[in-house]
Amino acid sequence: MLRKTVDPFTCLKETIQILARPGALLVTMGKREVPNVMAIGWGSVGIVWGKPVFVVLVRPSRYSFTLLKERGQFTVNLPSPELSEVVAYCGSVSGREHDKFRETRLTPEAAETVAVPVIEECRLTYECQVIATVDLLPEGLAPEVKSACYARGDFHRVYYGEILRVTADPDFLSGMAR
Ligand SMILES: Cc1cc2nc3c(=O)[nH]c(=O)nc-3n(C[C@H](O)[C@H](O)[C@H](O)COP(=O)(O)O)c2cc1C
Repeated sequence: MLRKTVDPFTCLKETIQILARPGALLVTMGKREVPNVMAIGWGSVGIVWGKPVFVVLVRPSRYSFTLLKERGQFTVNLPSPELSEVVAYCGSVSGREHDKFRETRLTPEAAETVAVPVIEECRLTYECQVIATVDLLPEGLAPEVKSACYARGDFHRVYYGEILRVTADPDFLSGMAR
C-alpha cells in the first residue's frame, strides 16, 4: 500500500474509535528481530513535554512487555473492520508460543523512523519512540478501577511513545473527508 505521511493528530477521532472497538495492534520487536503483535484497547494520543505522544498500557505478563524492555520502540496500527477477528486473535494468544504475524498472515513492513515494523494491511500507523514509562501503583488507583481491572494484580506499565511518524492509507483519508 502506498502510504501518505500525515500530521500526528490528523485522525484522532478515528484512532480513539478503533481503539475502543475492535482494538488496535501494537507491534514490538526485541533482540531476536522477530516482530510480535498484540491487541490494545486502552491508550491515548496527545501532547506531553511539548511532544506528540501515543500512550499505551501494557501489563508485565505480556510478551510485548519483555520486547519493549529490549527495544524501547513500538508501532500502533489501526486495522480496518475486516481485521476484527485478527485483532481478537492477537489479543488472545501470546507471542511466546505463537508467531502471530505468520498465523494471521499480517505483513510486517519496515517503518521509516523506528526499528520495529508497521503492518502493511493497516490503514493508519504510528511510529513511536518510548520517552517515559510509569508503573501504575495500586495506591494511586480509585477503588472501583482497582477492583474492576486489577483483581489479579499485573498492574500496567504506561509507555509514553513520542510519535515520530504517522502514515495513512489515502483511501482512508478521503473516506474521512466525506
Ligand atoms: C481488544 C483487546 C484489547 C486489549 N488491550 C490490552 C491493553 O491495552 N493492554 C494489555 O496489556 N493487554 C491488552 N489486551 C490483552 C493482550 O492483547 C493479550 O494478553 C495478548 O495475548 C498479549 O500478547 P503477547 O503476550 O504476545 O504480548 C487486549 C486484548 C484484546 C482482545
